[in-house]
Amino acid sequence: MTAIWRVDRKIFQQNVKRVQNGHPIMAVVKNNAYNYGLSFAVEQFLEAGIQCFSTTSLNEAIEIRELAPTASIFLMNPTQSFDILRQYDIQMTLPSLAFYYKYKEALAGVKVHLEYENLLHRSGFKTLDEIQEVLADHEANASTKMEITGLWTHFGYADEFDVEDYEIERAAWLNIVEKLLNQGYTFNMVHAQNSASFIREGQIFPHHTHARVGIALYGSRPYSALPREQIAQALTVQANVLQVRTVQEGQHCGYSFAYTAVRDNTRLAVVDLGYGDGVLRTRAQHDVLINNKRYPIRALMMSHMFVEVDEYVQAQDTVILYNEDLRIDDYTFKGVGANSEQLSALNLDSLTKEYK
Ligand SMILES: Cc1ncc(COP(=O)(O)O)c(C=O)c1O
Repeated sequence: MTAIWRVDRKIFQQNVKRVQNGHPIMAVVKNNAYNYGLSFAVEQFLEAGIQCFSTTSLNEAIEIRELAPTASIFLMNPTQSFDILRQYDIQMTLPSLAFYYKYKEALAGVKVHLEYENLLHRSGFKTLDEIQEVLADHEANASTKMEITGLWTHFGYADEFDVEDYEIERAAWLNIVEKLLNQGYTFNMVHAQNSASFIREGQIFPHHTHARVGIALYGSRPYSALPREQIAQALTVQANVLQVRTVQEGQHCGYSFAYTAVRDNTRLAVVDLGYGDGVLRTRAQHDVLINNKRYPIRALMMSHMFVEVDEYVQAQDTVILYNEDLRIDDYTFKGVGANSEQLSALNLDSLTKEYK
């Protein structure tokens, strides 16, 4: 008996197609495809007709090239490994003026996408002027040079509805795109929208070639106003009841008084799943499902947890931590942590991994 991390391929594929909805998508597959497994995810996305991928890791970009020989691959972080970018035909962000001036000769032949910083302030050119400066310098540079193939930004507030920050970053970005296009610049790829922006807009922005989507493709809703039926979670994480222990009122269970029984004959299921497998402490403040009934987690340890149960639960019963009822996104909206934070935490080396 081990704890299992399982993905239903059919549900995963159906969800990808529903999210895609006929639009051109750049699938974000960073961090081992949100922990769903890079090769599994790339294969699924290719099957759905997606031919464009982005990641933050050069090693992942190389792996994608091996899995998808003709796809467009975009590296969202800068690297100085320009030979590898050229060798594997990987396009890369151009993250700042300083980077451009330092490496403009070395970048010869590398395909870059100009990045606009916007409200996230993580990377990119700060203003339209900075972008125009690069474009002008690049035009004036007659020698062998980089290829400017794209223009992009990333939104920090598309999942926020109570503040105006998304409207602000959206307007700033659309203004940049429009001004550059009006000045006659052209780009093979223009992309900005993450899951939240793509879904709340219901379309791809004008003049954009792709929506750059991650979490929705992996089956979690980017914001809570979205109906559950619109996104399907293909992931189940389940464990087992190893044994059921009975403790009396006042007895402490787990390390350092983790839980103190409040009544006699409290039944605690010892479950073979813990934070060493990636269960967040915040997630352990909520329930699990055993035989279709919810029970509260009482203590979380590295390889185990205690779940308070009733007389219907027995050793070897299956304990569900996540499935289509206990969804990752439900816990996101309850404050457990971002969808990607919960997914990333699940430690696939200790969990048995299954694709069915
Ligand atoms: C630069 C960039 N683009 C796109 C995405 C995809 O965002 P989401 O998973 O919300 O669709 C991410 C994810 O963090 C990102 O960092």
